[in-house]
Amino acid sequence: MDSFTIKGGSKIQGEVRVSGSKNSSLPVLFSTVLTSEKCVIKNVPDLMDIKSTFDMLSYAGKNCFFGFNLFSAGEGKKLKTEAPYELVRKMRASVLIAGPLLARFHHVKFALPGGCAIGVRPIDIHLEGFKKMGAKISYEEGNVILKADRLKGARIKLAFPSVGATENLMMAAALIDDLTEIRNAAREPEISDLAGALRKMGAEIEGDGTPVLKVRGKTRLRGFEHSVIPDRIEAGTFLILCAALGGSLKVTEIVPEHLKVLIKKLKESGAQLYVGRDYVEIKAPARIKSVNISTGPYPAFPTDLQAQWMAYMTLASGTSRIQENIFENRFMHAAELMRMGADIKIKRNCAFIKGVKGLSGATVMASDLRAGAALLLAGAAASGKTRIRRVYHIDRGYDRIEEKMRCAGVKMERAKE
Ligand code: EPZ
Repeated sequence: MDSFTIKGGSKIQGEVRVSGSKNSSLPVLFSTVLTSEKCVIKNVPDLMDIKSTFDMLSYAGKNCFFGFNLFSAGEGKKLKTEAPYELVRKMRASVLIAGPLLARFHHVKFALPGGCAIGVRPIDIHLEGFKKMGAKISYEEGNVILKADRLKGARIKLAFPSVGATENLMMAAALIDDLTEIRNAAREPEISDLAGALRKMGAEIEGDGTPVLKVRGKTRLRGFEHSVIPDRIEAGTFLILCAALGGSLKVTEIVPEHLKVLIKKLKESGAQLYVGRDYVEIKAPARIKSVNISTGPYPAFPTDLQAQWMAYMTLASGTSRIQENIFENRFMHAAELMRMGADIKIKRNCAFIKGVKGLSGATVMASDLRAGAALLLAGAAASGKTRIRRVYHIDRGYDRIEEKMRCAGVKMERAKE
């Protein structure tokens, strides 16, 4: 397993171009199952999760190509309607193949994805929606089997605005020649990006980005060409990196609108930000003010930037409070930050961070993708050297991270172990 070695203490100076969104690429890639025609998706980041999606689609029978951030999928033979455990366990977002396979073949058998470091991650909201569309659900040896004689449009109210459930149900509805309404739908930008791809395939969709999504599908969908939106979480990670280390940074090829809450919070912490059409320039605060955050479904503060924000607040003057409202176990980075000298107290879903003068380098371990990102920030800010183990977590969500960090002025190396 590779590790990163970071020599802390540099000031940030330079420019970083952000890659395409991982969390938009995944559902758009799985939507290619809805048609036998050729689909081409651009601006796809080169990540472990994209490779896992490539493997899952190839296993199902799609002819896939991926290179130079371009993913194409064609179809030569009848697809398999199952997603086996050895593939699903590598990436729980594989569950997004269920909606397309169910809608196209009226049958799908997939391994229950199981939990991950940050939480149990159930899929009950997905299954509830499929049931409303007419699917019969059964379980067999850790697999879910969905069968339907016919699928019909449905009025679905999600118990929680689940991103994955909204995406899975949108894709299934796109192939049902009827009207499906999804209430309490997720509003993340990735939902609107998927809606854009499904419209190009022929589905009629309105209300994406609002809590009430309406999808009028077609019995046949065509191939499409689509370029995914920039990764707002990668962009946010680099803005927080600069705020924590000092200096200035230009983060380019982004959609600033997707980062409104973070930009507001960074300004409250004393940073200066200039927002351009497709870039943001940040000047770090001379003295970091402690700022509280509370995560929530978009457009609230994103849970995927919570760990990075905690790393930032360890260096603030005063005490800040972080409330994590999305996942039940998303504070594992706190223990590793404390090993670097951070002063953090956890009480149920709240963390209280008392700013310290500085962090000191240590050997730490990434427990999940965004915790790994938080340790990258902390190591770059700390005095001395930090070694981060299990960086495969980071490789799942950040394309060429060490190259980009070096562009920003951080001294870091990858060691192959
Ligand atoms: C997506 O995960 C993202 N992943 C996550 O990003 C992100 O943290 C999350 O949305 C929230 O924004 C991808 O897009 C691939 P949810 P998803 O369904 O769809 C509960 C990253 O770091 N829930 O919105 O799995 C669930 O347990 C990753 O890039 C149910 O109870 O998230 C959680 O507490 C991490 N039943 C909450 O809802 C369900 O059927 C939000 O989950 C589904 C979800």
